[in-house]
Amino acid sequence: SQVALYYGVKWVINSIDPFRKKKEDAKLKSARVLGKLGLSELDLSEHEQVIASEVVWPEDIQVHFKDIGGLDPIIESLQETVIYPLCYPQLFQSASGLLGPPKGVLLYGPPGCGKTMLAKALAKESGATFVNLHVSILTEKWFGESQKLVNAIFSLAKKLQPVIVFIDEIDSFLRERKNSDHEATSMMKAEFMSMWDGLGTDNSRIVILGATNRPNDIDKAFLRRMPKRFQIKLPDSEQRDKVLRLLLKEVNLAHDFDMSQLVARTNGYSGSDLKELCRNAVMIPVRESLRSL
Ligand SMILES: Nc1ncnc2c1ncn2[C@@H]1O[C@H](COP(=O)(O)OP(=O)(O)OP(=O)(O)O)[C@@H](O)[C@H]1O
Ligand SMILES: [Mg+2]
Repeated sequence: SQVALYYGVKWVINSIDPFRKKKEDAKLKSARVLGKLGLSELDLSEHEQVIASEVVWPEDIQVHFKDIGGLDPIIESLQETVIYPLCYPQLFQSASGLLGPPKGVLLYGPPGCGKTMLAKALAKESGATFVNLHVSILTEKWFGESQKLVNAIFSLAKKLQPVIVFIDEIDSFLRERKNSDHEATSMMKAEFMSMWDGLGTDNSRIVILGATNRPNDIDKAFLRRMPKRFQIKLPDSEQRDKVLRLLLKEVNLAHDFDMSQLVARTNGYSGSDLKELCRNAVMIPVRESLRSL
């Protein structure tokens, strides 16, 4: 009966640990990640496993660069200044050390214009390991361990490089620090900054990529660490034309369909507005045929 008691107590203790399931999930996921990268023998800490479970697989993503309308110059420049130095460092060696990839890149601009989409396409096509870091895993339930998790981001990234660590809506994480901040939060941010600075000193191939529609809310100290910035504005008429052609490429249009008029009348629309517009438009014939049944 003592044996039963021992297992009983053990079971109770295990089931009390609220993170047990999460930790096990993370362990399984990270084993899969390492397996896929051919790094199964790599030994990860518990915290690194949590971060490893945020790695995104190219085959799980459906967005390609060619699906993005009107952002070709930005894509090109992103490839030249970020992706090539990250993935082909041998081409960018110089004694001055000025040529490497930037340590931080920021995509900013109004909502619905393709920032998240662009990041997805990067995950699909860049060739670097892509970590889609949800800040909630640093702050929410693991509170108290968040500093260790921040450390794990960088130590794991070093093991898996080249790596892009993507933080969507980065303003919510790197908001202007206030005195009223929870102590753990401000310590976590400080830790993040100092780890980030560490990237500059060795030759690590790690880029932190942020996206936001509120760049003004980001702490100046953090902005400085994202020197490469790409503004993604509301599409102009030429860009709208490209987006609309992409959205409508598989739709049967009327013979006398006037694209230029549609482009002119959608001034001020974002990419996602255009998508909604097209979605509504293709619903109309469906609705008509339903009604005639
Ligand atoms: N340039 C574009 N070409 C094609 N589709 C686009 C473009 N911009 C936006 N879209 C469409 O709008 C949707 C929303 O875009 P996305 O999520 O990238 O916006 P965002 O810039 O990240 O906005 P937010 O700042 O609100 O997060 C995309 O999934 C896509 O369908
Ligand atoms: Mg977005």
